[in-house]
Amino acid sequence: MRVHVRLKGWWVVALVCVVPCLSYGNYVYGPDEDDICYALGHDQIVDMRPMSEIVHQDGKHYSASHPVFLITLKSGIKGVYKIQRECEIFAEVAAYRASRMLHFSFVPPTTIRVINGKLGSVQMYVKTNIEVLGSQFEHLLALVPADDLANIKIFLYVFGQHDAVAHNMLMNKEQDKVTLFAIDNGCIAIKKFWQYGKNPFIHVSTVYLFPKVGEEKNFPYSHFKTMPNYHPDELKKVFGSIFSLAYYKNKLSKYKPFRYIIFNHQLWVQKKVDEPVFCFITYCPADTLERLKALTKLDLVQIFSSFRKVIADEFVDDDFLNAILDRRDQVVAYFDHVKRDLVREEMRCG
Ligand SMILES: Nc1ncnc2c1ncn2[C@@H]1O[C@H](COP(=O)(O)OP(=O)(O)O)[C@@H](O)[C@H]1O
Ligand SMILES: [Mg+2]
Repeated sequence: MRVHVRLKGWWVVALVCVVPCLSYGNYVYGPDEDDICYALGHDQIVDMRPMSEIVHQDGKHYSASHPVFLITLKSGIKGVYKIQRECEIFAEVAAYRASRMLHFSFVPPTTIRVINGKLGSVQMYVKTNIEVLGSQFEHLLALVPADDLANIKIFLYVFGQHDAVAHNMLMNKEQDKVTLFAIDNGCIAIKKFWQYGKNPFIHVSTVYLFPKVGEEKNFPYSHFKTMPNYHPDELKKVFGSIFSLAYYKNKLSKYKPFRYIIFNHQLWVQKKVDEPVFCFITYCPADTLERLKALTKLDLVQIFSSFRKVIADEFVDDDFLNAILDRRDQVVAYFDHVKRDLVREEMRCG
């Protein structure tokens, strides 16, 4: 165990040095984008304060579940330092690398850094001029250029960001145009099965359940069970003492209605069963589709490479990478279908 921990530590140190030096495609935050990443990971910190202070000063509502801080570097660059599970920290960086590889700019430059002995992600601070909250969200989304909106939704779907909600987006408004930023991408580390146009089934249990059930080859999307009114006692009847009472009461009770599938001996729960799906759109820019088609497993290995060695068991394994490629294939198949329908329609009308 001690050796394992020590090795882990060395990998983290190595990554802190290496990650900011790697280059992933074009520069969308200007030619100094690599320098920004390097600075975020290395520059001297001259000020550090809770993120909530800054957001409140701007007159906005603050929503977070992790410790988040605004750091100011000697060079004047500001970064958002967040402490969360190791796999989520690396997922934040992977999301940035992936968006950059696909020539998108909606995930701000992100790297990792150890501050006061704690590893966290550091993302470039983006100052925005509007508050993104509930009711205005849809209205503001309508002001995002069609290509940008399509790109962001498709990107978040393919890379498995199932927590794309108003408070995990930043918006900046200039005249009638809104620019959208996708922050808080740690959840791409969580395994899931996700059909394009539907809400995803998320892997929620780390325990190996029911060795005799859930051995189908493919994820049985339509074979779910639903409890309309979740109650810990009802679920306890099904799963018994596999989970602790606290787990039934706190962790699982947030999924309402509770819809689940047991697959591969694991529990998978569908998010937001009755809510509209954010990561779905019926339009995709042609060049995005081409770039997605060109995305290979090797590219994904490059995006996630440094992390495979650190946390191979819990995060990036072959299934994880294949799931990304599967979602990409679903998108490509969907838009091929849309194209075929359009051609048929044109032939019918013409
Ligand atoms: N790169 C950023 N630029 C500007 N503000 C940010 C940035 N990242 C996070 N924030 C602010 O901090 C809040 C919490 O960050 P978030 O990553 O969503 O943390 P959590 O994982 O705890 O939800 C966000 O809702 C936003 O107000
Ligand atoms: Mg958040």
